[in-house]
Amino acid sequence: MEISQAQQSLLLLLLSLFFLPALHATSFSYCDKELDIFKVTGVKISPDPVVSGEAATFKILGSTGEDISGGNVLIRVSYFGIPVHTETHDLCEETACPIAPGSFVLSHSQTLPSITPPGTYTLKMTINHKNGERLTCISFKFNITIGSAVFAS
Ligand SMILES: *[C@@H]1O[C@H](CO)[C@@H](O)[C@H](O)[C@H]1NC(C)=O
Repeated sequence: MEISQAQQSLLLLLLSLFFLPALHATSFSYCDKELDIFKVTGVKISPDPVVSGEAATFKILGSTGEDISGGNVLIRVSYFGIPVHTETHDLCEETACPIAPGSFVLSHSQTLPSITPPGTYTLKMTINHKNGERLTCISFKFNITIGSAVFAS
């Protein structure tokens, strides 16, 4: 039997539904004016939603016009406007230094405690040059879901 037009469309629809989540990029906003040295072009979170108790990766895609020898990354996570988590990292731990003019990818991995309640969180990321100058500041929302480990025992 030949595959009908309808079956073909259904197959395409199913395929696109399957691949859509992988293409999904998180929308973000700049903290204030877009005067920053780093231009952010995209944010990718995996897995999306983030699973509490499991490692999550936040990838920041951007570009810069200057050589950056080093700096730090300040991460603040809030839940309904309430700060729940703050951490600072060396910029060079999250991307290769020195950062040459052009595009770069900053990859931040973290494991949220398995007690982290599910919901929508806001992550604010500020990147500062080692001389104290701000390179960029963005914020974006992400969802946390409960890991299966919670139900396992
Ligand atoms: C979080 O989950 C809610 C409910 O499923 C959804 O409406 C919202 O778009 C999600 N937000 C993000 C940032 O993924």
